[in-house]
Amino acid sequence: MRRFFGTLSPVAPSADDVAWVAEVCTDGELALWRRLPRYDRRHSLQVARDVEALLAGTEYAGDPRWIEAALLHDVGKLDAGLGVLGRVGATLAGAAAGHDMADAWSGKRGVSRKVGLYLRHPELGADRIRMAGGSPEAATWADCHQDPQRYATCGLPPVVVEALAAADDD
Ligand SMILES: [Fe+2]
Ligand SMILES: [Fe+2]
Repeated sequence: MRRFFGTLSPVAPSADDVAWVAEVCTDGELALWRRLPRYDRRHSLQVARDVEALLAGTEYAGDPRWIEAALLHDVGKLDAGLGVLGRVGATLAGAAAGHDMADAWSGKRGVSRKVGLYLRHPELGADRIRMAGGSPEAATWADCHQDPQRYATCGLPPVVVEALAAADDD
């Protein structure tokens, strides 16, 4: 619920936060991140700050790849272009019909297409990150982040995966 209400208040990220993103990301990644709607930029920053805190004191602290992965994990949501309520509807439709319908839906038109694209945001985000010349680890995490069954085999360090997943969950 915290995320839902946070999503409804469209306050732009602070200048400090944006400067942090610019410092961590490559130019291509930054350009991609900047295209996100405000609420997605805020969500991604929250996840990135949490990941930074969770990895502090571990051997993975201070590595920009994990912050990039947090900042870019949801960039595939750009393809559907759904607002907050449309996303709720898409999530419910995916849960009711099964995620396997997403491919077929994304080939249709109108609302079905948007729902299908939204449900496919992991793979679409990974494509966007690769096309922007972004970090391979960020593309990997975008691709796997919605599917816990793939966490163990995604190739990222388990401690990092645990932090990224935990940060995206609250
Ligand atoms: Fe996501
Ligand atoms: Fe997310």
